[in-house]
Amino acid sequence: MKITAQASSDVALIKYWGKKDEVLRLPENGSISLILDGLNTITTVEFSPEYKKDEVMIQGEVEDGEVGRVQKHLDRIRALAHTNQFAKVVSQNTFPKGTGLSSSGSGFAALTLAATSALNLSLNEKELSILARQGSGTACRCMCGGVVEWLNGDTSDSSYSVTRFSAEYWQDIVDVIAVVSTDKKIVSSTEGHTTAKTSSFFEVRQQHIEEKLEEVKRAIQNKNFRTLGELVEAEALEFHSILFTSKPALIAWHPGTIEVMLAVQQLRREGVEAYFTINTGFNVHVLTLEKWRDQVKQKLDSLALVQSTLIAKIGDKPSLIDNHLF
Ligand code: DP6
Repeated sequence: MKITAQASSDVALIKYWGKKDEVLRLPENGSISLILDGLNTITTVEFSPEYKKDEVMIQGEVEDGEVGRVQKHLDRIRALAHTNQFAKVVSQNTFPKGTGLSSSGSGFAALTLAATSALNLSLNEKELSILARQGSGTACRCMCGGVVEWLNGDTSDSSYSVTRFSAEYWQDIVDVIAVVSTDKKIVSSTEGHTTAKTSSFFEVRQQHIEEKLEEVKRAIQNKNFRTLGELVEAEALEFHSILFTSKPALIAWHPGTIEVMLAVQQLRREGVEAYFTINTGFNVHVLTLEKWRDQVKQKLDSLALVQSTLIAKIGDKPSLIDNHLF
């Protein structure tokens, strides 16, 4: 049976960085994110005795670097369903992949839902989140909707995500994404995680991360956008300070990244509330409120090094859809 799932990417407000267990993908700390409606992956999966091997196509390419990781994930799902049938998997994103916009999160969330449904496994949200986590950490959050917290569990069974606030709770928030390049980033997040602890600031980060998570949740509870924005931007800069001081140093930014960061600070001086955050890539998420959306978008579109902007709102958990990709 052919099954198609759609999942959204997310933007981490407090980042997942470093792993306690690389195989199980257990993070060093809890994290919290907004699911992004508008940055979506659609994946169609079909298992059949007709297939003599797994056939995986991502964004029209069969030689994509992620194919091996997809096959390993299919193996996990086959083991749960006690089958050895191979699968055909076709996946498309509505946004650039491998550029710091968490395409592995939406990708492995869509794959997890489509493949488990195709094999008639009926898993609940927690079980899906645990399974998706093993494909890509971010996917653990992308199995849920709204404002999502990935709990800091020490075992596979306790390391999963939950919705803290529904997608509808704060629809006033807009993420204006500045795309400064669509080139694939040089160092993947998976590789970057392995060097996290080589930064002497990593321990310092761990000491106050729980407190930061609580502060972020409180700011969302109170719908205090300024406090939330200040926390998120400071977290992004702390996270990149860890990357700069890791061995080897990981410098993810492009010149356009810095142009956007400075423009966001300038917008604030002009009275517009906007705050940036960046993952292990160069493209920038700029969080603002509906009333400033056009002003922020215009400003970012006017910058010399910005190629395009994307708009995302807080979105829902993955779902099955009828439009198959093959
Ligand atoms: C900086 O989920 O891409 O975006 O588990 O190895 O697939 P793997 O890593 P990944 O790491 C994302 C790191 C981050 C922060 C975040 O999204 O929380």
